[in-house]
Parts: sequence; C-alpha cells; structure tokens
Amino acid sequence: MDKKFKRTLVTTALPYANGPVHIGHLAGVYVPADIYTRYLRLRGEDVIMIGGSDEHGVPITIKAQKEGVTPQDIVDRYHNIIKDSMEGLGISFDVYSRTTSDMHHKTASDFFRKLYDKGEFIEKTSVQLYDEKADQYLADRYVTGTCPKCGNERAYGDQCEACGTSLNATDLINPVSAITGNTPVLKETKHWYMPLDKWEPKLREWILEQHKEWKPNVYGQCKSWLDDHLQPRAVTRDLNWGIPVPVEGADGKVLYVWFDAPIGYISNTKELLPDTWEKYWKDPETRIIHFIGKDNIVFHCLIFPAMLMAEGSYQLPENVPANEFLNLEGDKISTSRNWAVWLHEYLADFPGKQDVLRYVLTANAPESKDNDFTWRDFQARNNNELVAILGNFVNRALVLTHKYFGGVIPEAHELQDIDREALNEFKDVKETLGANIENFKFREALKDAMNLARIGNKYLADTEPWKLAKTDMTRVETIMNLALQITANLAIAFEPFLPFSAEKLRGMLNIEACDWNKLGEIDILPAGHAVNKPELLFEKIEDEVIDAQMQRLERIKQENIVANFKPKAVAPQVTIDDFAKLDIRVGTVLECSKVKKSDKLLEFKIEDGMGGRTIVSGIAKWYEPEELVGKQVCFIANFPPRKLKGVESQGMILSAEDADGRLIVIGPTGPVKPGASVG
Ligand code: 2FM
Ligand code: ZN
Repeated sequence: MDKKFKRTLVTTALPYANGPVHIGHLAGVYVPADIYTRYLRLRGEDVIMIGGSDEHGVPITIKAQKEGVTPQDIVDRYHNIIKDSMEGLGISFDVYSRTTSDMHHKTASDFFRKLYDKGEFIEKTSVQLYDEKADQYLADRYVTGTCPKCGNERAYGDQCEACGTSLNATDLINPVSAITGNTPVLKETKHWYMPLDKWEPKLREWILEQHKEWKPNVYGQCKSWLDDHLQPRAVTRDLNWGIPVPVEGADGKVLYVWFDAPIGYISNTKELLPDTWEKYWKDPETRIIHFIGKDNIVFHCLIFPAMLMAEGSYQLPENVPANEFLNLEGDKISTSRNWAVWLHEYLADFPGKQDVLRYVLTANAPESKDNDFTWRDFQARNNNELVAILGNFVNRALVLTHKYFGGVIPEAHELQDIDREALNEFKDVKETLGANIENFKFREALKDAMNLARIGNKYLADTEPWKLAKTDMTRVETIMNLALQITANLAIAFEPFLPFSAEKLRGMLNIEACDWNKLGEIDILPAGHAVNKPELLFEKIEDEVIDAQMQRLERIKQENIVANFKPKAVAPQVTIDDFAKLDIRVGTVLECSKVKKSDKLLEFKIEDGMGGRTIVSGIAKWYEPEELVGKQVCFIANFPPRKLKGVESQGMILSAEDADGRLIVIGPTGPVKPGASVG
C-alpha cells in the first residue's frame, strides 16, 4: 500500500433510519467497504471502519406522522434492525452509532457554531410555504399540488412523479399542506447558507487536478457540477426534528440533515476513540475513504469537503469510490414500493448463507454502471460457482487427505512440470488481488480469488491422485500437499470477501489465523499437521427456494399495481332516460375465434335470444378464444353495425380494466336467459 499513509479511516454512508437496509445499500456501500477494511486488517494495517444510522431529515418525520408515532420511535425501530442485520452479514464496523446520540448532537452543533463564529455562512431571508393551522413552515415534501409542467394534481413540493420535473414547493399550483390539508401561505424565513461558490476554485483544484485517479463516474459527476458552477446552499431548515441551530433567535430551526450527517463520521470516530480520534481526521498521514452510492457524490465530494475546508483543521478524503445502483429483477429498488430484498429478511430466509449474498453482490457490484440482481443469477452463482468450484475443490482436497493419509498433511517431494505450471499460475495472486482491492475493483479481486479454486480443481483433475494411489504413493503425497497448500491459500484470499466460509475453512484446516503475506506461497501448512474432517462449505440451492422468492416479488408487484390504481374521475351526470337509450343485454358465447390478420380482435357468435348475432371485440390480447366459449357476457345491443377487418360487428361486449391494465369481460354472476335486459 501507499507508504504515504500510516492509517486508514473508512467511512460508510449512514443509512436513513426510516427503513431496513436492502441489497442495493449492501452492494453499493457496505459489502465493498467491508472487503476493503478486512483486507487492510488482514495485512496488519491500522484501519477503522465507521458506520451509523442517519436519523434526521424530513422523510423520517413524514413516516412518523403517517404511523401516528414520534420520529424517535421510527429511528429506534430501524436503527436496531439495521445494526443487527449488518452485524448478521458480517459487516465489521468498529463502531455503528447514530445521529441522535448526544455525542453527535454536540459535535455537529459545535461544528456549525465554529463556522458561524468564523463568518463562514451567509444569512438570507426567503419566502417559504407556511401552514398557519399547524403553525409551521412546510418542507417541500409536506406540500402537494398541481404540477405547473404537466397538470398532475398530486405532485409533491420537491418533484412531480408523473413527469419527473424537480420542483420547489412554491412552484405548485393550488398547494395544499400534507399536515392539515390547508392552503399554505407564503411567509418570510431566515436561513444560513454555505457559500459553495467561494470554495469552488479550491474544490476544482483539489478534485480536477489532484484526484484524476478517482473513478470516472465520480470524477465526471464532480466535473459536471463544478462546470455548472456552485451556488450557496442552505444548511438550516424550519423543522422540529433535528439538531437545533446553535444561534440566538433560531428557534424552530434545525441543521439541514445533509449538514449534520457527514459530521456523523466524526462523531462516531470520537465515540470509538475518545482520546485518539483526531489522529484519524487531522493527520495528513491518514487516508480517509468514503464509501457511498452515486446519489451521495455531491455531498461527499463537494459540500462536506467545503465544510471541512471552512472549518480548517480536517483532512479531505483521499478517495470516494462511489458505486452506481443495483436494480432488482430489472426494476429500480424502492423502499416505498417495497421493491427490494431486505437484509433482515434474507438472513431469516437463508440462515447460514451470509457469504452467498456477499459473493453474489460482489460478483455483480455496480462498480461502473447500474447492475441487476436476479434470484436466478443468485441461484446459478451459488450452485455453479460456490458449490461446484470452491466448495468442490476444498472438499476433494480434504476428503482425499483423510482417505490416503488419515488427515495428516504428507510431505511434498520433487516437483514435476505439471506442479510447477499450476503453482506458476497463482504465484502473483497476492499482488494482483491486492492491487484490485486497493483500486476498488472488487469484482476483479473476487475473480482472482475464485481463480485459485479453479486452478486447484484443474490440478486435481490433471494429476488424478486417486489413480496414482494404486501405484505411486510418493507422487500422491506431493500432489495432496500442494492441493492442501492451495486450500490454505483460499482461506487467505477469501477472508475479506467470505469471512464466514474462510473461518469455517480455517477450522477444517485446523489453523487459527491467516497471514496475508503468505498468499501465493506453498509452505503455509507444514507436513505432519493434522487437518479436521471436511464439512460442506456451500450447499446447492433448490428451485423451490428461488421460486418462493420470485413469488414474493410477484405478490409485491401486484400489491403495487393495486395501490397505484386510481379510478378515473366520474363522468358528468346523466338522467335515467339517457341510460335507457342504451340497450344492454346478456348473451351466451357460442363460438369465439381470432379475426384473421388482427392480433387484437376476437369474433364472437352470441346466443342473444333473438336469433343470434356476431360481435367483434378488441380483447384478443387478454384471452384465448376457447376460454370464453360458454360464458355469459353483457353487450350493447343497439349500436349501429360496423365492419372491423371485414367482419360485421353487431354490438359491443362490455369489459373493465383490472389493476394491471388487462381487460376483463363483464357478465352476470349467475345464469340468465340469453337476451335478458340489463338495467
Ligand atoms: O442517502 C442516504 O441514505 C443518506 N442517509 C446518506 C448519508 S451519508 C453521510 F453523509 F452520512
Ligand atoms: Zn408534472
């Protein structure tokens, strides 16, 4: 590693405590950060990993209000779920704290005050929407109204979800307070702003000149923000949940959540190391790395660094290896739509399979572009890679050692070319794998580790010790010694990625700890050392298990469709005479077939009690013709006949759209005489 640094501070984005964590959070932030940290620890470096829950901000207050509980209740609930589940997955935080802690409130408050006293803020008065009934200013999310762009009547104050336009609450037509339903008024309010424009030249120099090595997605996003020029940003809000602004006359105002959250990294370091925390933040020999998702880039690369520059005594991050997003089965992960694989549920559904998830999320990490998690891929990677390659090799090596040598590692004798070729293939693994991790290329690093198992499998397949056992035990001794050395290499190489399996493997090999420096060597296990009986490292995941997960997602999809279904507005009133003009009847479907040269139309022969009629209906997309034969349907009997694709249609079959947009034919719920009037 870079000799410039004596120690490393790894920070992980603080997840909002308004929901549990899901696979998107894990693949984007926590799994890569954990691999990186475990790797440094394995190398014996001085490293700490900081985490915690982000417990302020408007979404938490909205959730609390919806549930009729306090914001504190919400964050207590999710902080515990998040903390326990991360621990369950082996994310090895040195501290996992929370932004409602006293330590954090004091640290963030003092930080603000220092900037205030140094004159680093500008004060500005602006007008904002105010709910007189609730006696409070309304955060953008607390206001709904009509979108000025597309006319959607349910647009939020920060965004119209129908047309995707970003809005200010004051842009909305007919704004309504989400708290009381009242029409808010405009009222002046004073806030403190970070003059980001003042820091722009320094940020430019620091990132665009001094950190050209940052990942292209991160560097590119920073460049685009900087090229557009930075504007002053408000760092306080009118809200009753958060850290009070520590200034005279700021009653009812709190620090903006994005001002206090990154300071959480500092507070949590203080909590971990009350006496020595400053070394990790202020000494130029510390390397600070922020692991985040792409939506957090501006805050970690521009705003937080500007705050640190303004404060004056802190180091800036050395790198911010932000990841792109992980999708689930082709759709964007969404907490509000419940479209996610939640970590705490995964741990309950797949006990003992933490490493399978860690493996799949690393193999598919969205390092340079958005990526997709699918349950079928999860199953395939488990069965075809973890079981068939890694598990299989380890098992064979240990089973054969027990079979031929009673579990005691034999001596290696003179090497042959085939041995040297195998060894040659992994002699550089320490450098390659290490460099990939250090450059945040975790997918590649994982491939390097897996490649060792492939080499091992090939070596056993090529040397076939089970055949030689009949004729040349000396040769078998050498082969099994080398196979076991490869197994020990696997225990080292996989430790950062699959810590549970690496521990199990160490148990099987009967060794206490691993030394990273030994990776790539073939003298890790001494001859004469007794290994333990093999257990299965991974087991096959059957189709039924995956089907159950797919069914869960299908259920959620259906629930979302139902929840999002909005009936259209009722049509203008009509009289009974208007209604009587429509002659609606019940008929029985005698025949139904596809209309030639059309994929939309079905042709019905209807028994209508009046000699029968033909009706053409555009529902071919949703029905197989035979499904409808024998069914009773309602139809309008007095529309003038018209030709559709050459077939004369004498009426219209009634149907309704289901929540999925599919047309369902309408008919009586019990048998009715064909020709009966509906009314
Ligand atoms: O995007 C988020 O989930 C934020 N809670 C991340 C905050 S990171 C840091 F600044 F605390
Ligand atoms: Zn709109």
